[in-house]
Amino acid sequence: SPYTIAVVIGSLRKESFNVRLARALEKLAPPELKFHYVRMDDLPLYNQDDDDHPAAPVQRMKDEIKAAHGVLFVTPEYNRSMPGILKNALDHGSRPYGKSVWAGKPVGVAGISPGATGTSMAQQHLRNVLCYLDMRLLTQPELYLQMKDDLFDADGGIGNPGTRKFLQGWMDRYVAWVKQHAQATA
Ligand code: FNR
Repeated sequence: SPYTIAVVIGSLRKESFNVRLARALEKLAPPELKFHYVRMDDLPLYNQDDDDHPAAPVQRMKDEIKAAHGVLFVTPEYNRSMPGILKNALDHGSRPYGKSVWAGKPVGVAGISPGATGTSMAQQHLRNVLCYLDMRLLTQPELYLQMKDDLFDADGGIGNPGTRKFLQGWMDRYVAWVKQHAQATA
């Protein structure tokens, strides 16, 4: 039976390297994993006053996370942390109190940046939040990537053989983790 993965990208940029990384990871996943890209660009800023009547895009996002068996965050680093896009979505999904859509879900974190530190600081901040939200975090292997010209091939796959092998190893661990902890609710 298929597993739905809710993919949450921390960039709204059209040519986003992180979107490209997510698509390349999707190519390394087995057919039983179905990647669903969660729309983020129309979410309002979180406001606790709206907890009892969330805006339509917020409800949609929460339903998509609930229905997924696992979550995959692929994010840039903004000023040594996660982009506000991501934190806003995490806050939306965490409320009302006791009704978080994140709790118990298996989750992986990945990211790519032109800088040599490869989103490691952003991911550390994100991991802190995911653990607080009681998600089942894949702690190893870590996936920090630096953008290089030969990284992606013409078809959007991973061109560099060493990097492809590393990412395949990561994906294999992620798939096993998702299967072990899969948790979807209608
Ligand atoms: C950045 N960038 C960046 N890169 C990094 O490695 N560490 C950082 O702290 C930051 N900070 C930062 C802040 C802001 C506001 C922007 C717009 C950018 C550069 C960033 O990695 C680069 O723009 C990537 O291309 C963003 O990822 P996407 O959009 O290509 O997925």
